[in-house]
Amino acid sequence: MEKRMGMIWWFLVYMGIATTCCFAGPKSSFDDNFSIMWSENHFKTSEDGQIWDLSLDNDTGCGFKTKQRYRFGWFSMKLKLVGGDSAGVVTAYYMCTEDGAGPTRDELDFEFLGNRSGEPYLIQTNIYKNGTGNREMRHQLWFDPTLDYHTYSILWNSHQIIFFVDRVPVRVFKNADYENDFFPNQKPMYLFSSIWNADDWATRGGLEKTDWKKAPFVSSYKDFTVDACQWKDPYPDCVSTTTEHWWDQYDAWHLTKDQKLDFAWVQRNLVIYDYCKDTKRFPKLPEECSLSPWD
Ligand SMILES: *[C@@H]1O[C@H](CO)[C@@H](O)[C@H](O)[C@H]1NC(C)=O
Ligand SMILES: *[C@@H]1O[C@H](CO)[C@@H](O)[C@H](O)[C@H]1NC(C)=O
Ligand SMILES: *[C@@H]1O[C@H](CO)[C@@H](O)[C@H](O)[C@H]1NC(C)=O
Ligand SMILES: *[C@@H]1O[C@H](CO)[C@@H](O)[C@H](O)[C@H]1NC(C)=O
Repeated sequence: MEKRMGMIWWFLVYMGIATTCCFAGPKSSFDDNFSIMWSENHFKTSEDGQIWDLSLDNDTGCGFKTKQRYRFGWFSMKLKLVGGDSAGVVTAYYMCTEDGAGPTRDELDFEFLGNRSGEPYLIQTNIYKNGTGNREMRHQLWFDPTLDYHTYSILWNSHQIIFFVDRVPVRVFKNADYENDFFPNQKPMYLFSSIWNADDWATRGGLEKTDWKKAPFVSSYKDFTVDACQWKDPYPDCVSTTTEHWWDQYDAWHLTKDQKLDFAWVQRNLVIYDYCKDTKRFPKLPEECSLSPWD
């Protein structure tokens, strides 16, 4: 029931997007808005160009990025993750201010951690500000993400960052009403996705190694949607006209009533790890942990 209410709300939001959106996957070609970062030969599109496959083998993985940068907006795509035995394999879908792991980057991450056949995938999210991350959360999913496409989205404005799975908010990261070192909101970001080998840490803390006999490992993507303020140097118009877009308006500054129900359900049932509860690691919890996602 609670889920259904949330879905209805999001359906309405979605209809709004559909009419105003800058681009939604179906009509645009990959090359209009994305480029391959490395190993072109591990990237493949379906015949109609609408489904993109990234593959990983013992030689290399693969990644792509948007050509444009954005500051604030709604970012969404459908993914179907590597099936079967994928322990050690990580599929990442993230936003970052730069190409590499620079010391002052801001970053918003979704990482999908593969597993042995039949064992559950986990998703890990993280937030970097000026090169500092260490803000991990891990969630279980309520479905098998390898069987079908599911939608993973990020809402980003100057009040909050929300990570959504099938439009259910799984993580809420709030800004404070004072200047701070934890909320990324000053620099525009590219959007990236990649697949790589992380068997030194990803699955059961690195105990489970990638089984290369099962390669290639393939993750599939479709329906990229970006409804956002596209960056132009030195400043795009949309940066100064705040609240003009739905993703920057009052209703997007807080969870809605229905989203709160969904979020409470996720909190109760699916959170495996939350850095804000890890007092062993942080005897003094990071400052942002005192901000309530419910406000
Ligand atoms: C996608 O690419 C087209 C063609 O280059 C461009 O006009 C459009 O602004 C891009 N859309 C986004 C959201 O970056
Ligand atoms: C990588 O896989 C190929 C094909 O399975 C195999 O021939 C090759 O020896 C492997 N290379 C390494 C470094 O494991
Ligand atoms: C970002 O971090 C660097 C150190 O990596 C530091 O020198 C700089 O002052 C920081 N910038 C801001 C705006 O906090
Ligand atoms: C993989 O499966 C094991 C066993 O069910 C579980 O403990 C673990 O959390 C799963 N995910 C990862 C990424 O290790």
